Amino acid sequence: MVTAAFRQAIAAKAKALGIPTKAPKRKSAFRSTLPKHPPRAITPFRALHLARANVISVWRPEAYFSPFLAEKYLFRWMYVANNPDAVRHVMVTNVGNYWKSGAMQKALKPLVGNGSFVSNGEIWARQRRINIPAFHHTRIKLFTQYMAEEAARLVDIWADKPPDAEVAVDAEMANVTARVVCRSMFSEDLGERGRPVFQAFTEYQEALRQIDYAEMLGLPRWLSQRPSAKQRAACKVIDDVVYALIDERSGGQDDRGDFLSTLLSARDEETGTGLSREELRDEMSVIFLAGHETTANTLCWALYLLSQDAEVQARLVDEIETVLAGRAPGHDDLKDLVYTNAVVNETLRLYPPVPVFSRQVLGRDEIDGIAIEPGSNMIVSPWLIHRHRLIWDRPNQFIPDRFLPGQSRNRSKYAHIPFGAGPRTCIGAAFGEYETMIILVSIIQRFKLTLPEGVKVTPQARLSLRPSPGLPMKLEPRSRG
Ligand code: HEM
Repeated sequence: MVTAAFRQAIAAKAKALGIPTKAPKRKSAFRSTLPKHPPRAITPFRALHLARANVISVWRPEAYFSPFLAEKYLFRWMYVANNPDAVRHVMVTNVGNYWKSGAMQKALKPLVGNGSFVSNGEIWARQRRINIPAFHHTRIKLFTQYMAEEAARLVDIWADKPPDAEVAVDAEMANVTARVVCRSMFSEDLGERGRPVFQAFTEYQEALRQIDYAEMLGLPRWLSQRPSAKQRAACKVIDDVVYALIDERSGGQDDRGDFLSTLLSARDEETGTGLSREELRDEMSVIFLAGHETTANTLCWALYLLSQDAEVQARLVDEIETVLAGRAPGHDDLKDLVYTNAVVNETLRLYPPVPVFSRQVLGRDEIDGIAIEPGSNMIVSPWLIHRHRLIWDRPNQFIPDRFLPGQSRNRSKYAHIPFGAGPRTCIGAAFGEYETMIILVSIIQRFKLTLPEGVKVTPQARLSLRPSPGLPMKLEPRSRG
């Protein structure tokens, strides 16, 4: 979790700088368009088909102002907890009744097995206990050095390109965040081994049919789809590297104090046995996937949004100049980068990297007076909650000011949930937020990025919310005064 101390430090800095806490009633230059919504009379099967291509294209306009949605798909109900109180109920108050769904487990099983992102109950609780020390704030402080070094490496490479060069920002962000996660969690510079692994994560997502019709419709499990040959091939590429990392380190005595050392030294409280090779693989793949894809997408969307709004970009450049005066950002600067933090949070609102959480309902329940059937699907969608018309003023506009200190006083904390909520909250939230800030600042200090003429970018929800068909951008070096 991003610490309360960090939030307080940001608020104190804003006060000291005299940053107004009332958002100006300015019109945003950017207005994002929602995906084309389906017609009213749509069969459940057609809805699932649309969701398979892009989960966020399935919502009808009323989903953006209804507090709760319920729909029956053949034998199974699907509910959407679409207001902050209902989100708190599902993710915090009655979290024991809402487990990670079978559909989600099935989508990710070939990739992460029963790792902590998809596991439930006691297995998950033990994994979480093992994982927590690797994310202690003293460790995160060390990781910010790697973030700054990798960001500097990236902008130096870009600086050697001819003026107006075009870069594939999506691939570049995946690469830099993957390098950071490998160095922080596994003390490894994967070098040439890295690119095929990250490419394989992309290929897996492209091949993934993330909506399993049998699962959603409540049909017998044997009708469920099997992983495709493409998915299996992508997993093999990832597994080969992950197992090599495990084998290089297991049996050795060196405790490098990183996540892999934590995993290798973990012992079962009762039996004293360590994690199996497969359990190690599952957890490392979770960290690989959850630890780079999400941050990479946040960076893509932040750069995209900034390219659409010159005024926000100018304010950001101004803050970066004032706070850093040309030097590279470090851990202690983050609390002073108040507007940068607001830009990141507003990006996470408009484009939450995990746009949908899906849970299976264990026992009967009631939410907002509606009876919830056991065995049904419960959805919490940051995409919907973050653009909900009853929660947000001008929800489709890019207005970072709404995240300046003091602005969220009257807003439920369950209205902005890019990192989830409750016990299953993202364990890497601080890691991801700091990393986004450091890499974003390092890029903006040196370059202005623009969309090439005629390029249109739309959000596509696969495992994460990606810019489609990618994010080509032109690099324009900033003059260094
Ligand atoms: C901007 C960056 C990130 C975002 C938006 C994000 C978002 C999320 C969300 C929404 C969940 C919970 C999903 C659910 O409840 O179904 C989650 C879980 C998780 N994330 Fe992140 N994440 C980010 C960065 C990271 C990083 C950098 C790491 C690791 C280095 C990480 C590791 C994990 C893990 C291990 C879980 C599973 C936690 C558990 O259930 O115990 N994430 N993330």
